[in-house]
Amino acid sequence: MESMTAALTVGDISFSGADSVASESVREEEKVDRENRQTVGVQFVDDARMTCRDVNVYYGAKQAIRDVSIDIGRNEVLAMIGPSGCGKSTFLRCLNRMNDTVSTCQVTGAIHLDELDIYDKSVDVVPLRAQVGMVFQKPNPFPKSIYDNVAYGPKIHGLATTRAELNEVVESSLKKAGLWKEVSDRLDQPGTGLSGGQQQRLCIARAIAVRPEVILMDEPCSALDPIATATVEDLIAELREQYTIVIVTHNMQQAARVSQRTAYFHLGDLIEVGSTDRVFTNPRHRLTEDYITGRFG
Ligand SMILES: Nc1ncnc2c1ncn2[C@@H]1O[C@H](COP(=O)(O)OP(=O)(O)OP(=O)(O)O)[C@@H](O)[C@H]1O
Ligand SMILES: [Mg+2]
Repeated sequence: MESMTAALTVGDISFSGADSVASESVREEEKVDRENRQTVGVQFVDDARMTCRDVNVYYGAKQAIRDVSIDIGRNEVLAMIGPSGCGKSTFLRCLNRMNDTVSTCQVTGAIHLDELDIYDKSVDVVPLRAQVGMVFQKPNPFPKSIYDNVAYGPKIHGLATTRAELNEVVESSLKKAGLWKEVSDRLDQPGTGLSGGQQQRLCIARAIAVRPEVILMDEPCSALDPIATATVEDLIAELREQYTIVIVTHNMQQAARVSQRTAYFHLGDLIEVGSTDRVFTNPRHRLTEDYITGRFG
């Protein structure tokens, strides 16, 4: 706000006379442009787990994310909100290089997980995607047993080899995901036979089983009923004690309930970021306010 006011004042002072009318309108456009694009709020934190600087994402010639800089704090839940098509999933997928799988997609800028530059050529994306795990909108268990859904990752990443180790990791992951009690007597049955909410918790257990540091969730509750949603939200609150979580949601109440910081995206720009309380009660940017009050999107 302060810098916008300052820019206006500078503009007002520097123009006079007939010629200035045209120039002024050019400046006015620039100002509006800047107003729309410059992130307001608190982008950076002291105890960052991931840092993103000047991230741009293109699909071919089309730019989907513009100059996004933000930190994701340790043991925090960061909610990413914004209208459909604003780039939330695109940005989320940058955080574990899932966009590498889209041939037309190009990512520039820098993203670090602690000291690791995750886009460094030497980084192997397979362990990276275990460290920065992902849970998708639609629960997508493998066509395998409940046990194997959870055991598969630790097996291929060499985190557990003996049957006893695998049993241990399956049980502890299902417990952390709040699913153990419901499935402990039918671990050999197909994961796809569970209810939607159970399947989503199975997918969370699968992500946890490979000892991630960060968990990315792209609208994890949008296919769930209110009861299953509440279970997953409670789970997110518990998981935060051990992990850093980034959640994309269209549900404002959910963002308010589960997150400590909220980032608002609009047409590829990170418009505003700050503590969830502050963003929801006192949004600084007009676009954020329009969105959270339901005037847009
Ligand atoms: N694989 C792709 N190829 C080309 N363009 C894409 C691709 N994926 C996304 N886009 C485009 O990038 C922009 C951002 O899309 P993205 O899916 O990240 O938005 P979103 O905020 O997650 O939307 P929603 O809330 O609907 O899930 C959109 O214009 C979309 O059409
Ligand atoms: Mg999306």
